[in-house]
Amino acid sequence: MSRKKIVAGNWKMNLDRAKAKELTAAVAARRGEAAAVELVLCPPAVYVETVGTTLTAAKSDVGLGAQNMLDKASGAFTGEVAPPMLVDLGCQYVILGHSERRTLFGEIDAAVNMKTKAALAAGLVPIVCVGETLEEREADRTAAVVSGQVQGSLAGLSPADLEKVVVAYEPVWAIGTGKVATPEQAQEVHALIRGLLAKLSSPEVAGRVRIQYGGSVKPDNAADLARQPDIDGALVGGASLKADDFLGIAKAFG
Ligand code: 13P
Repeated sequence: MSRKKIVAGNWKMNLDRAKAKELTAAVAARRGEAAAVELVLCPPAVYVETVGTTLTAAKSDVGLGAQNMLDKASGAFTGEVAPPMLVDLGCQYVILGHSERRTLFGEIDAAVNMKTKAALAAGLVPIVCVGETLEEREADRTAAVVSGQVQGSLAGLSPADLEKVVVAYEPVWAIGTGKVATPEQAQEVHALIRGLLAKLSSPEVAGRVRIQYGGSVKPDNAADLARQPDIDGALVGGASLKADDFLGIAKAFG
């Protein structure tokens, strides 16, 4: 089963407009170094347009994504961003249910599920994040927690929609800590997720879903992760803020 690898940069709440432009231009210019890999940049919402126009000016096929959105198309939702607005700016992807959204902003699986459906309805590819905390891993609850998140976040999707989703497995203890999961630890959970997706749809559909790993991915640990059969790319935080590191990771998946 050949799945196109996908490496996305989650810039989180970093950079300014000039630096966002500079980084985008650098990634676009060096895109050929990882030509076989789908690349996506996910800047803060206020810089999505800048990144989009920079990519267009460079005639680049690097994808554009947001880091969050609301599940409503418009209305009285102060401070929120609607799926059609992201589409309007040229977004093709949106990260949903990131652990920072779940833990800092109280997003629960049901909300992630509604957002996932709204993203698909708007024509966006949702990058749906799941992952256990250190406490949960140490209590041997990884499988239960990740299963609950996958089933809750992706409930009720048709097989055709499920196939479009990208799942990102991001163990919370590995995010921003420099403590990457071992390739074996990651593969074990990725295989579990693919098994769940098969139950939600069929083995054929599950075999086409891309599952990214996220959590302290760096150029020097990406190749070992990339060798695992169920790791189809990376969702990169800190290392996506440097073109060298981001491209280095992308190349490892090429
Ligand atoms: P780091 O790569 O900085 O650990 O962040 C991972 C992440 O949260 C990507 O969404």
